[in-house]
Amino acid sequence: MSISIDLSGKVAIVTGAASGIGRASARLFAEAGATVMIADRADAVHETLEMIEAAGGKGFATQMDAGDEAAVAALIEDTCSRFGGIDIIYANAGITGGKPGGLFDSDASEWAEVLRINLIGPYLAIKYGAPKIKARGGGSIVCTASVAGLRSGAGPASYSASKAGVINLVKTAAYHLDGTNVRVNCICPGLIETGMTKPVYDYARDAGKLDKIGQLNPMKRGGEPEEIAKAALFLASDQASYVNGQALPVDGGLSASHPIAPRGNRGI
Ligand SMILES: NC(=O)c1ccc[n+]([C@@H]2O[C@H](COP(=O)([O-])OP(=O)(O)OC[C@H]3O[C@@H](n4cnc5c(N)ncnc54)[C@H](O)[C@@H]3O)[C@@H](O)[C@H]2O)c1
Repeated sequence: MSISIDLSGKVAIVTGAASGIGRASARLFAEAGATVMIADRADAVHETLEMIEAAGGKGFATQMDAGDEAAVAALIEDTCSRFGGIDIIYANAGITGGKPGGLFDSDASEWAEVLRINLIGPYLAIKYGAPKIKARGGGSIVCTASVAGLRSGAGPASYSASKAGVINLVKTAAYHLDGTNVRVNCICPGLIETGMTKPVYDYARDAGKLDKIGQLNPMKRGGEPEEIAKAALFLASDQASYVNGQALPVDGGLSASHPIAPRGNRGI
């Protein structure tokens, strides 16, 4: 039995690919042999393509809004006309939105924008992308949810609700795609150093408290974008051929326990 992950001949779309988890995933997918359609609203998406090409990979970079229906439909069509079809979509673009915890400080317009990008974006990727993947005989859609979607306390209220929505979306979509061989899963990252969490890391660095990051999880550290990219690569690949409708936490174990006072090790 072989367990190497090879995406040769596959076409993959990655959204939110100008930075952080999306950039790391686009690079890893390309390294595994996929042709990658790299999408983001930020112009740094072109730098991601340069990195991929410098490493011998191939793809195309495009600036678009992953929460806009016409833009997502156009992205799907453009990918098909450039590369002949789609096998994999990683719907990863997301924003934090409002103030941490701020249920009563937030307003409906903030909620609408967070839900538009974080939840409606993945919905649109599935709606327009799944028929194309089905036409290739099957494939994989991966979305980025968050530990914030599993329970409260890991981000603004609107953000948590949007990510909880993504977790339900992949379960629902997996069943709406029954018999198609199109799998839909999501990843729930814990705290990862990216553009989104830069303020947290900068604050800790400036305060000389970088070693406090990630102390609530049993790995006692924050995560790297590449550690999420590896999970995305697995779920995107045929090696995950029987994984469907699931939310996979990649969080150092953070979500495995209720918040309790750290008790140190258990005698090991
Ligand atoms: N960093 C973490 O700790 C963490 C934890 C859990 C989940 N996540 C999720 O991971 C995903 C990736 O975020 P990241 O941490 O890499 O942050 P990041 O800010 O480094 O990357 C997010 C990317 O998404 C892009 N983007 C935002 N809105 C967009 C839109 N409407 N259209 C197109 N692109 C858009 C941004 O331009 C950016 O390049 C997000 O969905 C985020 O919610 C991150």
